[in-house]
Amino acid sequence: MQPKEVAGRRAAEWVEDGMTLGLGTGSTVFFTLVAIAERIRDHGLRVRGVPTSLDTEHKARGMGIPLATLDQVTQLDLTIDGADEIDGAFQMIKGGGGALLREKVVAAISRREVIVVGPDKVVARLGTTFALPVEVVPFARPVVERALSRLGCEPAVRRTRDGSEYRTDNGNQILDCRFPAGIADARALERQIDAIPGVVESGLFIDLAHTLVIGQPDGRAEVRER
Ligand code: A5P
Repeated sequence: MQPKEVAGRRAAEWVEDGMTLGLGTGSTVFFTLVAIAERIRDHGLRVRGVPTSLDTEHKARGMGIPLATLDQVTQLDLTIDGADEIDGAFQMIKGGGGALLREKVVAAISRREVIVVGPDKVVARLGTTFALPVEVVPFARPVVERALSRLGCEPAVRRTRDGSEYRTDNGNQILDCRFPAGIADARALERQIDAIPGVVESGLFIDLAHTLVIGQPDGRAEVRER
């Protein structure tokens, strides 16, 4: 089993009958969805999930996982999601798949946020292996781009494979911000980015993760609690 599958499946073991779940986005959470769907089919597990992206919504629907909207739930028992980077304090960069906004909304109402990753996502300092995604309103994009540059990064408009501008599920754009020396103070940076008019959300996830599951190449799942 690959590290992503090890981590994704391990986290699904915390899903209990009757829970309302947050369903994260990405190739690691995919294995969580598969494991949940298996338990629904084989053991009659009763759960419902709020998807964090249209991609996850389609996958979960196709697998027979019952879905809910934020009109129907006030709190989530458990959310399982991936990350692009996570440091020793469980601060994260997310949004590689463009789902950062919905992922952060869902994380914020989750009693427990479990992050599933392979060992390559664990870093000593955020921003050293991955550019920070920032979701912006298209009208404001040039203004936000200049303001982000003044914060010390090199922002680049995310594009699709065919070269057109990428759009999120919410119709916005993403600026991928490379910090040449990494991010020294993620908490302060999140506040600075959020203060720029036209920014919808940054991919910095501060104090939102409770549990980290790292799938290892030897098939072990390493579990760390914050
Ligand atoms: C989605 O926008 C991201 O936050 C994902 O959760 C993150 O990119 C993890 O993806 P993988 O599990 O595919 O690496």
